[in-house]
Amino acid sequence: MAADTTPTSSKNISVTLQIWRQAAADQPGKFVEYKATNCNPNMSFLEMLDVVNDDLERRGEDPIAFAHDCREGICGTCSLVIDGKPHGPHEGIASCQTYMRSFEDGAVITVEPYRAKPFPVIKDLITDRSAFDKIQQAGGFISIRTGAAQDANALPIPKQDADLAMDAAACIGCGACVAACKNASAMLFVSAKVSQFALLPQGQPERDTRVLNMVAKMDELGFGNCTNQYECSAACPKLISHDFIGRMNRDYIAATFRAACKDKAAGADGGA
Ligand code: FES
Repeated sequence: MAADTTPTSSKNISVTLQIWRQAAADQPGKFVEYKATNCNPNMSFLEMLDVVNDDLERRGEDPIAFAHDCREGICGTCSLVIDGKPHGPHEGIASCQTYMRSFEDGAVITVEPYRAKPFPVIKDLITDRSAFDKIQQAGGFISIRTGAAQDANALPIPKQDADLAMDAAACIGCGACVAACKNASAMLFVSAKVSQFALLPQGQPERDTRVLNMVAKMDELGFGNCTNQYECSAACPKLISHDFIGRMNRDYIAATFRAACKDKAAGADGGA
């Protein structure tokens, strides 16, 4: 697992935070300044926010709303844009794995929610990313019984395919790819979810309908198109490669062609 490899430090630091505060999606938001003083450099960024919130609550003020669950880079819930970068300054880690030692003493740090129309702000730094759930529900599953798994050796899979499927399955659905893209494209997320099944025998029965339905849902929900800037893979905490986008595009074209052929054949049968 990738990690914040900034060397540990024993010198406490103080930073100024410019944090986006917004009461609700339909309310205007603004940056509000907070001081985080005497921070242990080895506390995580989220722990630092906890300390700031403790202080706000002691003063009777509304704490800063931010999302998290595992705090280990696994769940994809944390979704901060730190100094303009989804998940902060490091490659290959999530916001929750970022430590205060990554920042200079006296630094001014901006913290914002994801900025993407399909991810409306719920409050402060929390966005509604249920659009990703809807894309998954459109096809990101297999229909085989999963309760009684057969022996793994009964279904040989080329190692290269197995490794690639594993790489795709590393996607934690955090949405950083969308936040990093100027078009708010979800192509990296969708391509990872499509590819993890398309590479395996278990994913073949719904291969065509999966890619067609997931791409259609992505478009319907207002995500933009990919223009090959690759900001998505640069921001991905799991370092998912943009090669999966090309793989998905090829799958999509093939599925569209096969669907058209089927329609044509069905039309010919109907006319017979
Ligand atoms: S809180 Fe789970 S990935 Fe950050």
